[in-house]
Amino acid sequence: MKISVLGATGAMGGRVIKSALQSGHYVENKVASSDDISCLFSNTDVVIDFSSSIATERMLLYVKKHMPNIPIVIGTTGLSKIHIDLMENCSYFTPIFHAPNMSFVVSLINTLLALVAKILPSQEFDTEISEVHHKLKKDAPSGTALMFGKTIAEVRGDNFLDVANFIRYGIIDQRKTGEIGFSVQRCGRVIGKHKVSFVGNHENISIIHEAHSKEIYAVGAIHAAEWTYKQKPGLYDMRDLTKDAVLPIIKEMCEDLE
Ligand SMILES: NC(=O)c1ccc[n+]([C@@H]2O[C@H](COP(=O)([O-])OP(=O)(O)OC[C@H]3O[C@@H](n4cnc5c(N)ncnc54)[C@H](OP(=O)(O)O)[C@@H]3O)[C@@H](O)[C@H]2O)c1
Repeated sequence: MKISVLGATGAMGGRVIKSALQSGHYVENKVASSDDISCLFSNTDVVIDFSSSIATERMLLYVKKHMPNIPIVIGTTGLSKIHIDLMENCSYFTPIFHAPNMSFVVSLINTLLALVAKILPSQEFDTEISEVHHKLKKDAPSGTALMFGKTIAEVRGDNFLDVANFIRYGIIDQRKTGEIGFSVQRCGRVIGKHKVSFVGNHENISIIHEAHSKEIYAVGAIHAAEWTYKQKPGLYDMRDLTKDAVLPIIKEMCEDLE
């Protein structure tokens, strides 16, 4: 495949270029802040974006206006509703894949969290999400922590913003049923650590993911680009890709149990 990279001079962009070449793809266009966004869409099969919210917005506004029928994989974090609405608009005519965390293992954890949150009642198990990242990270909580929280709220039928608690300081009153508490640390060079705990009165369960290298996101983005290239227009995320990988295994396990 011919791949274009937005954010090509960045920490992630460099890794994406390396992973693309290692997987036998061509890197057609490398775009950064001094380049014209339109360059991204010339002679390419798929665009991969690891840049900034401003650059992502410019790219999506360009796509909305010019409608190039080229799949796009978006890894940039710190995006808001404006960006999600733009992605939805653009997904009517081209496949758009958006994931705040491109790691397949993180996505697998997201699936496990949905299962655990569905089985353990929120009245009995308090949910807490904590994350640690390096001191240069600009957004908080991380896109991954938010994704985990949204998954848990969704399977419980809760509105995420009603149950999420991002601030605890001073007199905070007692914990509300169904609350999802977030805590954030920014220090050193930590690549990314997430912990989700379901804490009951007599026992608790925690699921932890620790990234040892940023390569996992670059490899995941190439995998996502290969998958998105084959999809019809629409808005996709890691859950769709993971479902394709996990469902056949679950079906086989269920058949073995019967
Ligand atoms: N989804 C995931 O799995 C995942 C994993 C890691 C990181 N991320 C996210 O990916 C993004 C990039 O991370 P990073 O560590 O690579 O950041 P970085 O090192 O700061 O690189 C940012 C890149 O974006 C470019 N850029 C910034 N503003 C731009 C603009 N207005 N127009 C065009 N290009 C622009 C920069 O170009 P210049 O060099 O010209 O400024 C640079 O190439 C962040 O949002 C980060 O949180 C996501």
